[in-house]
Amino acid sequence: MGQAERVGVSLDKKLLGMFDDLIARQGYSNRSEAIRDLIRTRLSEQRLAKPSTQAVAGVFLVYDHHSTQLAGKLVRLQHSHLLQVIASTHVHLDHHNCLEVIILKGKVREIEKVADSMAVLKGVKLSKVNVMTTGKDLT
Ligand code: NI
Repeated sequence: MGQAERVGVSLDKKLLGMFDDLIARQGYSNRSEAIRDLIRTRLSEQRLAKPSTQAVAGVFLVYDHHSTQLAGKLVRLQHSHLLQVIASTHVHLDHHNCLEVIILKGKVREIEKVADSMAVLKGVKLSKVNVMTTGKDLT
């Protein structure tokens, strides 16, 4: 954290009570850290709206490994976007289903393009992408 500055904020008692309940359930030991995290999250979300923002993402894919050539197509997609793929891991969920988690880094627009091209492959049953900024400049 950089140089700290104290600020006073006026809040409705009921709203503050709900906030305190929320952060207690989440395990925060004080309001300051909870408020800092809220601000970082909001700033990060705002930056992600810009397609050229540098970001990281986890792409979660559940697919049937019996699907013809799907595993090979996923590998080829990762090789063709080497700049964005940091790592991937594979979990055998049951006799039919596998989970692939692929970690990407790059501009938001590139991450979304790669994630979309994986999600639409035949045999992919479920897909979810979690994108966030790298945390740079968010003290
Ligand atoms: Ni598997």
